[in-house]
Order: sequence, then C-alpha cells, then structure tokens
Amino acid sequence: MKQKTKNKILVLHGPNLHLLGKREPDIYGRFTLTDINKELKKQAQKNNLAISIVQSNSESVIVDKITKTKYDFLIINPAAYTHTSVAVRDAILGADKPTIEVHLSNIYKREEFRKKSLVSDVVLGVITGLGPNSYFLALDASIRFLKHR
Ligand code: DQA
Repeated sequence: MKQKTKNKILVLHGPNLHLLGKREPDIYGRFTLTDINKELKKQAQKNNLAISIVQSNSESVIVDKITKTKYDFLIINPAAYTHTSVAVRDAILGADKPTIEVHLSNIYKREEFRKKSLVSDVVLGVITGLGPNSYFLALDASIRFLKHR
C-alpha cells in the first residue's frame, strides 16, 4: 500500500534567538533554543510529522526559507523583524501557507514599538507571551489544523 507522505512543519526563529538562555533572561527566560528545538522535534515525531527548524539573523535567509522551501505549515517567530519587515510580511503572503506567529514575551506588554506587528494580520493566529509554550502550543495547533483541514 502507498505510504501517505508526512505533513511537514517549518519552524523559523528570527534574529538573536540563538542567544536564548543568556539574552535578557528576565524577559526571555533561561532555556536555550536547543531546549525548545529538542521538545519541538519530540512533539513532531510523536505525531508523525516531519519538522525542519531554522534560526537566522538574516532577513533574506528568512524570506528564502518562507518562499522557496516545501512545507505544509509555518510556525515563525520573526523576532525584531516582526516590527520592521515588509519583506517577511510579503513572503508570508506570497507563500500562502497556514502560519502561526509566535513570541516568547508578550509583545503587547512591552515598549510601544513592539506592539505593532507587520505580520499579525496576514497569519492564521498569534501566540504571544507564554515563553517556550508559545511554540509548543503553536505546534499543537498546527497538528489539529492539518488533521481537520
Ligand atoms: C520576540 C519579541 C520581539 O519584540 C523581539 O525583538 C525578539 C523576540 C519574542 O519572542 O518575544 O527578538 O519575538
């Protein structure tokens, strides 16, 4: 019998998220990106999903990943590009894939400039302020979404 191909989730971590663990721990916590990625991979494997996880500080790499790679669902923490990047917004629109925007911190509780996201109105939903759980809940939501679409 022909094997059904696995759904693929792409997780993108934007600029400076490689510094998690040592970067402003009062805001972002003490866990590292490796800790988060390990848990995401475990959760994906349990649910028979393929997962690809990329961190980049470069806007162009992020745009290329969004628009040139194959996936069924995108989970993205655009980090600082959330507030500045028309290119990331346009890439999400261009790729036209179900997408969840995540943030570790609650961007609405912080400086004024962080309250504006250029991507929130072009994604399915936003999870903000729950630390690493923002990612885990996004993955859970993507699993449910893909099952019921
Ligand atoms: C962030 C919030 C952004 O404002 C900030 O620039 C980040 C991380 C978050 O996950 O809380 O780098 O996206």
